[in-house]
Amino acid sequence: MTEASQATAATESDPVAAPGRPPPSRSKSLAPLRQLLGFLWPHKSRLIAASIALVFTASAQLGLGYGVKVLIDEGFSGADPSGLYKAVSLMLIIGLAMAIGAMIRFYLVSWLGERVSADLRSAVFNNLVHVQPSYFETNHSGEIMSRLTTDTTLLQTLIGSSVSLAVRNALTLTGALTLMVITNLKLSLVILIAVPVTLLPILIFGRRVRNLSNKSQQSIAEVGSHAGEIFQSIKVVQSFNREAAEKAAFSHDVEQAFLVARSRVFQRALLTGFAIFLLMGGMVGMMWSGGVDVIEGRMTGGELGAFVFYAVMVGTAFATLSEVWGDLQRAAGAAERLMELLQETSNIPDTGKIRPSPGKALRFDNIAFAYPSRPESPALDGFDLIIAPGESVALVGPSGAGKSTVFELILRFYDPTTGALYYGDTDLRDVPLLDWRAKIALVPQQPTLFSGTISSNIAYGVSDPTPGAVERAATMAHAHEFIAALPEGYHSDLGAQGVRLSGGQRQRIALARAILADPELLLLDEATSALDTDSEWHVQQALADIMRKRTTIIIAHRLSTVINADRIVVMDQGRVIDSGRHDALIARCELYQRLARLQFGPEAGLATPSTNTAPLDVTD
Ligand SMILES: Nc1ncnc2c1ncn2[C@@H]1O[C@H](COP(=O)(O)OP(=O)(O)OP(=O)(O)O)[C@@H](O)[C@H]1O
Ligand SMILES: [Mg+2]
Repeated sequence: MTEASQATAATESDPVAAPGRPPPSRSKSLAPLRQLLGFLWPHKSRLIAASIALVFTASAQLGLGYGVKVLIDEGFSGADPSGLYKAVSLMLIIGLAMAIGAMIRFYLVSWLGERVSADLRSAVFNNLVHVQPSYFETNHSGEIMSRLTTDTTLLQTLIGSSVSLAVRNALTLTGALTLMVITNLKLSLVILIAVPVTLLPILIFGRRVRNLSNKSQQSIAEVGSHAGEIFQSIKVVQSFNREAAEKAAFSHDVEQAFLVARSRVFQRALLTGFAIFLLMGGMVGMMWSGGVDVIEGRMTGGELGAFVFYAVMVGTAFATLSEVWGDLQRAAGAAERLMELLQETSNIPDTGKIRPSPGKALRFDNIAFAYPSRPESPALDGFDLIIAPGESVALVGPSGAGKSTVFELILRFYDPTTGALYYGDTDLRDVPLLDWRAKIALVPQQPTLFSGTISSNIAYGVSDPTPGAVERAATMAHAHEFIAALPEGYHSDLGAQGVRLSGGQRQRIALARAILADPELLLLDEATSALDTDSEWHVQQALADIMRKRTTIIIAHRLSTVINADRIVVMDQGRVIDSGRHDALIARCELYQRLARLQFGPEAGLATPSTNTAPLDVTD
């Protein structure tokens, strides 16, 4: 019988032990939790201390049953009050031991939960920050953020309470069962039949709860990312009077999430109710049978008292376990999703070992490239171009020609589908990413600012610049004037994504950031498109000086911006159509003529506008 009870207890403690051992086949679903072990391992001394405290408390709790027996048999029924004194002292000592043990256990276990979830958050962030940018095109940042917060919180609850609860209850369950069997074999049988019967519904409902919990997390993540997108674009939403429509769409998402959560809660309620009902049935049967034994003198009242105490313990432990089982399933879902994020690797391999020496040419060798989301329509096709060190090259061409894509490949946000990009004789894939990107500064088409001060934004690309350097860069980007006019100057807070600046001001901050980085290769993607002609003229003057010292590639729709480049490369439909200086292109390239005619007027070919002489009066 002892064997039987141990077997039952062992089955029951499986969910708890699953993170620690190879899971038995039936709890395969908890396998993701095993991966958390790696995060617990560094804190093993605390884990051991917590386990000791846990076992200690559980043993003390079991000792209470003996206390109950002494209390009833010697304390209440003995003629002599010393029996009561003895029983009460015993209870007091056990109570004190339980209190101290629980205090230590609670602190250590909660500490572990908080620590592991903090470590997980960092680990996930640290991993994702290296993943290729295209990953975030298919995976919404809002969803990832929700995983970072909600899922890690679930695991924190798991480690910080559920596991401890489960282990503790598994221990008391085993202990109480054993003591029950020792106290009264026949009565134990009644309980032992009730226990396995409850196993079945737990297994069935447990699986459902787990699936629904995954869905629930997912829909909550969607709700979060939906709201994030709307708030970010609030001006567009309000200007098109879309508040009502957005409210309806959002409520729909929220309701969807609620429906999923409701079915999960329902399944779990069924699970709990069922388990409790079965156990109470067992209890009542035991009271009846035990009562008869006491009446007929086969056991003392104290023995029955202790037995009932153990049985209640078994019942509570079992009910708790059935509830914790649901928590474990939810946590397994959370762990699975987090591990996915942790195992996400960049598809831009950083295995190169060749450190690039400065001053080499950049060569695009017959490159074809399609964005992963549109494999059938290449953004670049048969793209060939050599850019000499120190040269300034302008890329012009119609919208969608692939100009920005060229920058994405240079920065290795993507690798070409076929063909290769060389720096000197070295394939970029053979150069360590950090070394390569350290050579480059980009001013993207959409200037990106971070919340923080102006000076922290300008200094984003360098570790610790002098205030003088920041100011010099801002002056070159023609930003110093407007920055100085702000009440807090360089320490002005920009708000999230720089909302407190105008489009042109944002561009100049982004430009100053690139200038301060002092790169070997400067990439300007429509870097001055939002500037007024006067500011642009000033920036052009500064750029002319900056461009002399480094390789520069400029993308611009306004031809006035690019006219002074060493070479203008005309692109269309992902390939180079022609290249040369403005005058030559005007003479022979039909596409360039068309672009120039629209901007400079029909006589474009005759009078060559120059940004060096005066501010141009052309806008696009
Ligand atoms: N992330 C992306 N996923 C899929 N397709 C993309 C992506 N980015 C750009 N494209 C497509 O690739 C092609 C080239 O885009 P690219 O951004 O290089 O054009 P561009 O020459 O910079 O145009 P513009 O002057 O309007 O900035 C376009 O057809 C565009 O729709
Ligand atoms: Mg572009």
